Amino acid sequence: MNKGRTPNRADFVVVANRLPVDLERLDDGTQRWKHSPGGLVTALEPFLRARHGAWVGWPGVADVDVEPFSDDDLQLHPVRLSSAEFAEYYEGFSNATLWPLYHDVVVPPVFDRSWWYAYQRVNQRFAEAAAEVSAEGATVWVQDYQLQLVPAMLRELRPDLRIGFFLHIPFPPVELFMQLPWRTEIVRGLLGADLVGFHRPGGAQNFLWLARRLAGFEPSRGQVGVRSRPGVVQVGDRTVRVGAFPISIASAELDRMARTKEIQQRVKALRAELGNPRKIMLGVDRLDYTKGIDVRLHAMHELLAEGQIKAEDVTMIQIATPSRERVEHYKQMREGIEREVGRINGEFGRVGHPAVHYLHTSVDRKDLVAFYCAADVMVVTPVRDGMNLVCKEYVACRYDLGGALVLSEFAGAAAELTSSFLVNPHNLDGVKDALLAALNIDEAEGRRRMRALRRQVLTHDVDRWARSFLESLGTPLAD
Ligand code: ADP
Ligand code: G6P
Repeated sequence: MNKGRTPNRADFVVVANRLPVDLERLDDGTQRWKHSPGGLVTALEPFLRARHGAWVGWPGVADVDVEPFSDDDLQLHPVRLSSAEFAEYYEGFSNATLWPLYHDVVVPPVFDRSWWYAYQRVNQRFAEAAAEVSAEGATVWVQDYQLQLVPAMLRELRPDLRIGFFLHIPFPPVELFMQLPWRTEIVRGLLGADLVGFHRPGGAQNFLWLARRLAGFEPSRGQVGVRSRPGVVQVGDRTVRVGAFPISIASAELDRMARTKEIQQRVKALRAELGNPRKIMLGVDRLDYTKGIDVRLHAMHELLAEGQIKAEDVTMIQIATPSRERVEHYKQMREGIEREVGRINGEFGRVGHPAVHYLHTSVDRKDLVAFYCAADVMVVTPVRDGMNLVCKEYVACRYDLGGALVLSEFAGAAAELTSSFLVNPHNLDGVKDALLAALNIDEAEGRRRMRALRRQVLTHDVDRWARSFLESLGTPLAD
């Protein structure tokens, strides 16, 4: 990473809770920057680098002041969080209130006033940082659920800016959103943007309904399309557009990486280290209770117990990035998953050959591509997910048309990846059937499905996502 002082104000600014790099403090007292976790950074980073933009965000560690710096083609503007704000704004309101509420209340959201106050204070700080960094008339693109008040706060400070907002997680059904004690403030915060974007038309439609019900504005009536026909809300003399823009990945880059000799050698080595099993199943997720890691483990356990698969033939690899480790439901989920892995291996593993290889770590990009290329069946079973980029990454890597994808209907990606084995993760028998079908698929049928999946993922990449959003915002990109 080539770090230097950052130049002045920028014409294009992304504002997100996290910077694309996290500060890591090592045991010997030194520190280094590492890649930040999650789909938001995966999607936005390559795009913003190519455009020499500025990124305002938290450096991933509480109580540190970091001066703005540039990292190759990107200007980074760190925003400080204190330990108390980390606990109340990040772990609390963002990840124990909004995250579960927006993911279908998979676990009960906690409504705590002091967390809400911290959320307001921190959103104000991000708005002030963005106002300072942005040039006259700049485009500012605010990201995700942690910063839903920023659009209105920023507009107050800098009415000259063009402001977009994109939500990377699902926007909930109105009945669930209405539980939030601060629902009107959130809707008004978002309406400070010129364009509010969601992954799916349903989310946009829900938001339009709430703009009328909670803020008293009259929205347009037609159905919102995908990248087309955005809804419109007239807010005083401003027109706010509300649309659906399914996010994606830099698919051509993954396709290119997967084809390299280096990756192919890693794939061979990996299969050999695993004892060349007949089939490899793979899960890759942040360790989050929305991802349904438990679902696939239970399915595998039953299939082994019933003798429908044999541990000598089928190996599962689960790679889980540590995430939000001090939040109570994350701790409980981790314990449950690790217990289940232990049970499966205890019952079905042999010395040197566990049935499930569980890695509680994040792996580097090249290794990840090798895992994708080695996997016969990719298992993506969230109980709710805004989009899910892992399944798109898998497809982008399978230039050989090998492999099969088992995908939850409750991931945003299911609407696009219709040639996968779609499953309801609440229906364990259905998940088991889909795993068996994917493990036993005949080659021609597998290739047919993968070809269709690849057509979708390669033609709808992250650049297309960003372009369609920015065009709708009225700031089309030059090539
Ligand atoms: P989320 O944003 O909820 O984490 P996504 O599937 O949309 O879920 O994006 C996750 C991103 O993080 C993907 O780019 C994926 O490759 C990456 N990722 C997830 N788990 C790991 C891991 N264990 N090691 C490396 N990268 C990971
Ligand atoms: C999801 C969210 C992102 C978040 C990421 C990682 O992708 O949509 O906003 O950054 O998860 O979570 P974390 O809490 O570690 O930032």
